Amino acid sequence: MAARQPARPLAVVALVFALALVAGARRRRGAPLLGFAETVRVSAATTTMTSRGPLVPFNSSDWRLQKMTHLSSLATLNSTLHLFTTYLAGSLTDCPSDLGCSVRRAKFGVRFGTHSGALQFLAAPLFDDLGEADGWIAYFRELHGDMRNFDAFMHNKVVLYARDLATYAGPLIADGIPLMLRSSVDADGADVLHLGLQVEGVVFELVGAAGDMPGARAPAWSADECPAAHALPFTLAYLSDLVGLADDADDDFALYANEPLLAVTLGMTQHGVTSAGAAARYEHAAVLTGASHNVTHASATCVVVDMGWESQPGVAIRFVDNAAAPSGSRSLADYDAYVRRDHEAFLYDEDGEQNPDGWDRYLDQHLGIWYSGGEASCQARASALRVLLADVPYAERQQPDAHLFYAGYDGPFALEYQFEHCDADRADAPAECGCTGNNNEDTWYNLTGDACWAMGDDWCE
Ligand SMILES: *[C@@H]1O[C@H](CO)[C@@H](O)[C@H](O)[C@H]1NC(C)=O
Ligand SMILES: *[C@@H]1O[C@H](CO)[C@@H](O)[C@H](O)[C@H]1NC(C)=O
Ligand SMILES: *[C@@H]1O[C@H](CO)[C@@H](O)[C@H](O)[C@H]1NC(C)=O
Ligand SMILES: *[C@@H]1O[C@H](CO)[C@@H](O)[C@H](O)[C@H]1NC(C)=O
Repeated sequence: MAARQPARPLAVVALVFALALVAGARRRRGAPLLGFAETVRVSAATTTMTSRGPLVPFNSSDWRLQKMTHLSSLATLNSTLHLFTTYLAGSLTDCPSDLGCSVRRAKFGVRFGTHSGALQFLAAPLFDDLGEADGWIAYFRELHGDMRNFDAFMHNKVVLYARDLATYAGPLIADGIPLMLRSSVDADGADVLHLGLQVEGVVFELVGAAGDMPGARAPAWSADECPAAHALPFTLAYLSDLVGLADDADDDFALYANEPLLAVTLGMTQHGVTSAGAAARYEHAAVLTGASHNVTHASATCVVVDMGWESQPGVAIRFVDNAAAPSGSRSLADYDAYVRRDHEAFLYDEDGEQNPDGWDRYLDQHLGIWYSGGEASCQARASALRVLLADVPYAERQQPDAHLFYAGYDGPFALEYQFEHCDADRADAPAECGCTGNNNEDTWYNLTGDACWAMGDDWCE
């Protein structure tokens, strides 16, 4: 493996933008790629300059983690939904949301800390892709198989805390759903039980106090599985208290038959989690949204980076590069490279200019973070983001509820920045449309003279 570089400590990260990087400057593909450090000078100052002037300093106030979306294929979305509604999500119904033109979404409510959020699977076979996205999903599904053997892609996992683990685990075990059982010890010394199942090649792992299931026998995570990547980022005691602090006024919670699950770790693989490409993601999230990140583990074969927000307690975003675990005939780097090729193919125009009106399937594989601050703060952040994204393939959409940027950073997951109270000075950005490969309502209008299929209000809740 290539030598790893430590991430820059965030304490010194504040960015001063070179004047050349005024909003709207666009990188040509094929033009020499500036290194991140050359593009953006890192200084000890705590002021972020944009074309709109200084913005000092952004914190995580008014930012919330809203959702995590994984890709799905149309043929398997219904069984995914069934698995969720039967075992994990209480009383939700078995109906996929129809976004028009064979785009379907399965949406599951969970809690991020004290507020509700969503885990989504999206099947959008029409959206632009170099043709292998469904193949990757099938690859992960086959590799994980019956969950007997650990593989490196299993770090793509959502960890769900249950205050009473047996309530959820009982039916899974009774029905013989293949589970990977492991144990760990939290920072208080309490015994933790992990039960991982696979959902379309993604691992969903229930965790809770081992004492909830006295009969369960589970080995500790082995060295090759990188125990640090599975360690709970918060203690069981803290998570148990967090369930109690939930905002009962939030209607979504009333839908659960059982106590809701807390999504405590949102895990993603990436080869080179501390590379320059990955650093752009951490630094943009830091500057714009007040996110912090730490390299929580770094050995010769496994590196773990946790990212999170002060305004979003109880959730860790975890990026893992595990070179010790097997990954079958494809590597973590292969996956990153495929996603990169998809972004490169569809998010630049024929002249090599960034094309934020384009789209590719992997933009739908993302974390969504929502900014609800007032209009002036919103515009300031949105224009700062456009400057930051000068070297990143991205898409921009104007939706009725928010103005959206989907940033295709290196690695298989994008970040969706959602601005509720402003249009980012681009009210004429296209709306989304599941009927065109580029997810673009203007394209649909030009083709048909009609508005795109109206998105129904049928979110299966
Ligand atoms: C975050 O910044 C806003 C100004 O943008 C300020 O009003 C607020 O007090 C800050 N919050 C914290 C926790 O520092
Ligand atoms: C999935 O379920 C919907 C109804 O909820 C049904 O219309 C559709 O045909 C199903 N798709 C597949 C591939 O089974
Ligand atoms: C990173 O470490 C700092 C200092 O200990 C801490 O304040 C912050 O919450 C940590 N962030 C994450 C995401 O773990
Ligand atoms: C739609 O057609 C108009 C007028 O020809 C053109 O300016 C615009 O670029 C087209 N938009 C798309 C997305 O094709």
